[in-house]
Amino acid sequence: MSKKRRIGILTGGGDCPGLNAAIRAVSKRAIRDFQMEVIGFEDGFLGLVENRFRKLSDLDVSGILARGGTILGTSNRANPFWFPVLRDGKEVYEDVSKKAFKNYQHLGLEGLVTLGGDGTLKIAQQLLALGLEIVAIPKTIDNDLSGTDFTFGFDSAVSIVTEAMDRIHTTAESHHRVMIVEVMGRYAGWIALYGGVAGGADVILIPEIPFDVDKICGKVWERQMEGKNFSMVVVAEGAFPKKGKPVVRKMIKASPDPVRLGGIAAFLAEKIEKKTELECRFTVLGHLQRGGSPTAFDRLLATQFGHAALDLLLKKDFGKMVAFQKGEMRAVPLRDAVEELKKVPLNHPLMLAARSVGTAFGD
Ligand code: F6P
Repeated sequence: MSKKRRIGILTGGGDCPGLNAAIRAVSKRAIRDFQMEVIGFEDGFLGLVENRFRKLSDLDVSGILARGGTILGTSNRANPFWFPVLRDGKEVYEDVSKKAFKNYQHLGLEGLVTLGGDGTLKIAQQLLALGLEIVAIPKTIDNDLSGTDFTFGFDSAVSIVTEAMDRIHTTAESHHRVMIVEVMGRYAGWIALYGGVAGGADVILIPEIPFDVDKICGKVWERQMEGKNFSMVVVAEGAFPKKGKPVVRKMIKASPDPVRLGGIAAFLAEKIEKKTELECRFTVLGHLQRGGSPTAFDRLLATQFGHAALDLLLKKDFGKMVAFQKGEMRAVPLRDAVEELKKVPLNHPLMLAARSVGTAFGD
């Protein structure tokens, strides 16, 4: 009797809307068209190290297209090459990647579909060198992975920011206040730029452009002079003042990217209020941006990514990441995707369009 074909799948790093749509796309096709068994590792690389997995049936992946989060669970602090273990009651960090490799091998998988952002895919690249047969699917609300125009999760986050902006706009107008909305984006300002433009922000602050508080206040005053007695500022959590640094909230040692930011909106509210003598309030959207149902765009992108990733796996074209470039599905070497973060180019068409309607960038 011939052995059943098997593939593995895992989701690593911060969750985002669309992960379940991608899991569904990979699994349904593998099960229905190729009679494969799909092994879902739990909590990302943590499940691979701890040998925690479950078989996904067609029923398990039915009805999850619109569901946020990931049915497999995830972790953004499970690096097999720097893994926290207890030795004599003390937490130390060890390389347990060989254990992960053994667990992978033992299951007799034809390949491992890895869904992740920058941190997860950097680890995938290292595991590839150990011999794991990996194909990758890009996900992150931050949209900062190179090689792909869009990652799924981003469009959903942008629509959440836009809705929040619309709501904050009406209260800003009523109270004649300066409202500051802090959004995610550690090193790249994609969410702030897209959400800010869609939400009609007067000022957008991104990590790519260190800001000048005087310039921000200048814009607020300019609006006052024009009879617009309220202002909306969107700030990426990673934005920082000229000659300053991003506001670090905490460090998470075991995470591939240990920095956790937060607090720039509070900083700005205080500065702007002092300088302009206008009342300021701030809102931190935080994990709201990562939760809930994916938009139609993200469902479509995730479904196509899932389909394309299985193609790569069947062709044994490992070490590649599926990508969306100029409206088409492509594949790029994983190495290229993780080498450098995709930041917002300062001549990005959306930035030029925003400037042309009077949006300021604090520069
Ligand atoms: O990378 C995705 C992301 O949501 C970033 O935008 C944010 O800085 C970070 O993850 C937050 O991580 P955590 O879920 O550990 O708070």
